[in-house]
Amino acid sequence: MTVTYENIKVCKQSGARLGRVHTPHGTIDTPVFMPVGTQATVKAMTTEELKEIEAQIILSNTYHLYLRPGHKLIEKAGGLHKFMNWDRAILTDSGGFQVFSLGDLRKITEEGVEFRSHLDGSKHFISPEKAIEIQNALGSDIIMAFDECAPYPAEHTYVKNSLERTTRWAKRCKEAHQKPDQQALFGIIQGGMYKDLREQSANEIIELDFPGYAVGGLSVGEPKHLMYEVLEYTTPWMPANKPRYLMGVGTPDCLIEGVIRGIDMFDCVLPTRIARNGTAMTSVGKVVIKNAQYTEDFLPLDPNCECYTCKNYSRAYLRHLYKAQEILSARLVTYHNLHFLIDLMKQIRKAIMEDRLLDFRKEFFQKYGYEV
Ligand code: GUN
Ligand code: ZN
Repeated sequence: MTVTYENIKVCKQSGARLGRVHTPHGTIDTPVFMPVGTQATVKAMTTEELKEIEAQIILSNTYHLYLRPGHKLIEKAGGLHKFMNWDRAILTDSGGFQVFSLGDLRKITEEGVEFRSHLDGSKHFISPEKAIEIQNALGSDIIMAFDECAPYPAEHTYVKNSLERTTRWAKRCKEAHQKPDQQALFGIIQGGMYKDLREQSANEIIELDFPGYAVGGLSVGEPKHLMYEVLEYTTPWMPANKPRYLMGVGTPDCLIEGVIRGIDMFDCVLPTRIARNGTAMTSVGKVVIKNAQYTEDFLPLDPNCECYTCKNYSRAYLRHLYKAQEILSARLVTYHNLHFLIDLMKQIRKAIMEDRLLDFRKEFFQKYGYEV
């Protein structure tokens, strides 16, 4: 198989998994956080910098790359890895989630989704087959099935119809996949916040036998305790010998809680997005760098951080850059935020190795606080 999961151990205290995911572009230590590079770039970061902070895998988006610059162009360039100068693993999301986020710019049928481009309003159609064709052209190591992420809240009937269509689409994705020996196609479990529907979706998707599985349809506006509850009953239905990916989740507290519930992979735009708004994730909670309290604060962004930003610059300087709208502000805070989450995952892996992830969670929250 193209992508395989190797379990190293299960934390005796929490049940969390420590493992490795083997891909055609290297081995990933899990649990892992994947920085998001929507448009074939992790915003503000060079690939050399991504390596400095030890990013092992990044995520990119089918929808955006299809619209611009076009998957054919990326294929001509020699694939996404070569195009963007990244020789480690890449996962691409299928476009399902992005297309559904377009609101009234889209129309769903059994065949696929018709939508208008957010760039120029032009009309497009993405079907499960098309989503796979695009991802085959991009050449990412892990490609995702084309699914529907139901909104929250949604009626039981709506979610049931939606997950059943997602299963039919997953089957079509598998049949359309031209490069199963080079790219691993992961299935996505949907089912909203309904236990019976999550169970139905898990059964149907797992029956199709994918090399890995994602839990989709979470972090869509539901309270956190609901997400934790859904994860708590869903992950035990997922095979232990394959990677488990929780889509779109990346606050520090949700990463820890997700790992404790058996998740191996996460992605989120949060660290990179809030960095550009001048917000840092630190070991003592959120630091909003534009705030007046940092005007004469010559401490590093995070006094407990060893990253390039924290080794070399003060909060006062970063605040100045932000206020002056200097692009270095976005670069330095992005660097720190990604370093922070990647380092958090490293600490989580160490805690699993030492069977003390619940103790780690307690210590982390005492310092970080619960607010995110
Ligand atoms: N990103 C966050 N949630 C989802 C989801 O449910 N489906 C897909 N394809 N991507 C996501
Ligand atoms: Zn730092």
